[in-house]
Amino acid sequence: MKSFMSKVLLFYICLYEGQTMIIDGGIYFIFYGSNSSDYVNTTLNYDFVSLQNTNYFNMSKPTAIFNHGWIYDVHTDIYVALAEAYLSRGDYNYIAIDWSKYSHDINYPELVTSINDQAALIVSILIQMQTAGFNLTTFHFIGHSFGAQIFGRVGYQLIQNYNFTPTRITGLDPAGPMFGNFNEWPTSPIALLYPSLNILNAKFVDIIHTDRYKNSEDYSAGHMDFWPNTGAYQPGCSIFCDTQDYNCLVCSHNRAVKYYTESIQSGSVRKFKSNLCSGLGYDIGLCFGSVASMGFYADKYSANPGNYSLTTNSVSPYSVSNA
Ligand SMILES: *[C@@H]1O[C@H](CO)[C@@H](O)[C@H](O)[C@H]1NC(C)=O
Ligand SMILES: *[C@@H]1O[C@H](CO)[C@@H](O)[C@H](O)[C@H]1NC(C)=O
Ligand SMILES: *[C@@H]1O[C@H](CO)[C@@H](O)[C@H](O)[C@H]1NC(C)=O
Ligand SMILES: *[C@@H]1O[C@H](CO)[C@@H](O)[C@H](O)[C@H]1NC(C)=O
Ligand SMILES: *[C@@H]1O[C@H](CO)[C@@H](O)[C@H](O)[C@H]1NC(C)=O
Repeated sequence: MKSFMSKVLLFYICLYEGQTMIIDGGIYFIFYGSNSSDYVNTTLNYDFVSLQNTNYFNMSKPTAIFNHGWIYDVHTDIYVALAEAYLSRGDYNYIAIDWSKYSHDINYPELVTSINDQAALIVSILIQMQTAGFNLTTFHFIGHSFGAQIFGRVGYQLIQNYNFTPTRITGLDPAGPMFGNFNEWPTSPIALLYPSLNILNAKFVDIIHTDRYKNSEDYSAGHMDFWPNTGAYQPGCSIFCDTQDYNCLVCSHNRAVKYYTESIQSGSVRKFKSNLCSGLGYDIGLCFGSVASMGFYADKYSANPGNYSLTTNSVSPYSVSNA
C-alpha cells in the first residue's frame, strides 16, 4: 500500500491538474421486489409515486438504502447477499444506489474530488422522493467503503440545504485514503476538505471498522464505533498479500459487509455482543464496559456511545456467542 504521505501528494497533484470528475447523471436508485434479481431501476425525474405500495415499495415499512463502494456495483456478491438478507426479513423496503458509472473508474483521487457532486445528485433524487410522499425519516442509510463516505456528505447536504437530519447512517469500514478525521478538523486541512462520515451527519452514526491499517480509517468517527478483532486483519484474511491478489487485499475490508449481513439474519439482538472500551482498550481487543450489539441492532444501544470491541470466531459463522 502507498504510504499516507504519497496519498496526500497524489491528492495535491490531482487538484493541480484540475481532474475533477463531472457528475452528469448516471446515478440510479434500484428498488428491489421479492429477490435481488427482481428490481425497478430509477433515476432523477422518475415517477416515484408509481412505486408506492407496489411489490417494490410498501409505504408502511421502514427502508434500508445501501450505497456500494469503489470498483464494485450492486451486483457484487457481498452486496447481493446483503440485499437478500433484508428481503428475506420481509419487514424492510430495500433500495440500492447504483453509481457504477463512476465507481468503475480506477482514478480514486478523481472520485474523491467529485464526492460532493455525487452526494448532491443522490440528495436531488431523495428530495424528489420526499416530494412524492416518501418519508425519509424512516430511511436507514448504509454505505460500504467509499459509499459510506458519500452517505456522510449526503447527510451533511440534507441537513445544510434541506433542514432534514437522517435518522441513522451505518458506515461499513468507511474508506480511509484521502479522507480526514473530522474530529481533527481545526488542525487538519484534509479533514476540512474531505471530512469522513461523522456524528454531525445523522442523529445516529454507527461504524464497523474491519481494515483500519489498509483500506479504511484508523480513527473513531461515529456515535458508536465497533472494532471487531481490534478493527484489522479479520479471521481467515491473510496479513501479507501479493499486491496483485485483489481478493486478499480487500478480505478484511469486505468483512464489514459480511458481519453486517449476518447481524440482519440473526434472530438475536445479542449477536455480535460487544463491550464498551475505556481509553484505547479496543486496540488490543480488551474491553469490559457496558454491552451492545454490532450491526443491525446497534441503534438499540445508542444511549451508550463510544468505542466497542468484540472478537468473532474463525471464518464462518462470524458470530460470537449470545452470552
Ligand atoms: C425473483 O422474483 C421474480 C418476481 O417475483 C421471479 O419471477 C423470479 O423467479 C425470482 N427469482 C428467483 C431467483 O427467485
Ligand atoms: C440501471 O439503468 C442504467 C441505464 O440504463 C444502467 O446503466 C444500469 O446498469 C442499470 N442498473 C442496474 C442495476 O440494472
Ligand atoms: C405493507 O406492510 C404492512 C406492515 O408490514 C403490512 O401490514 C401490509 O400487508 C403490507 N402491504 C402489502 C401490500 O404487502
Ligand atoms: C415519518 O416517519 C416518522 C418515523 O416513523 C414518524 O414519526 C412521522 O410521523 C412520519 N411522518 C409522516 C409525515 O408520516
Ligand atoms: C474512541 O477512541 C478514540 C481514539 O481512537 C478516542 O479519541 C475517542 O474519544 C473514543 N471515543 C469515545 C466516545 O470514547
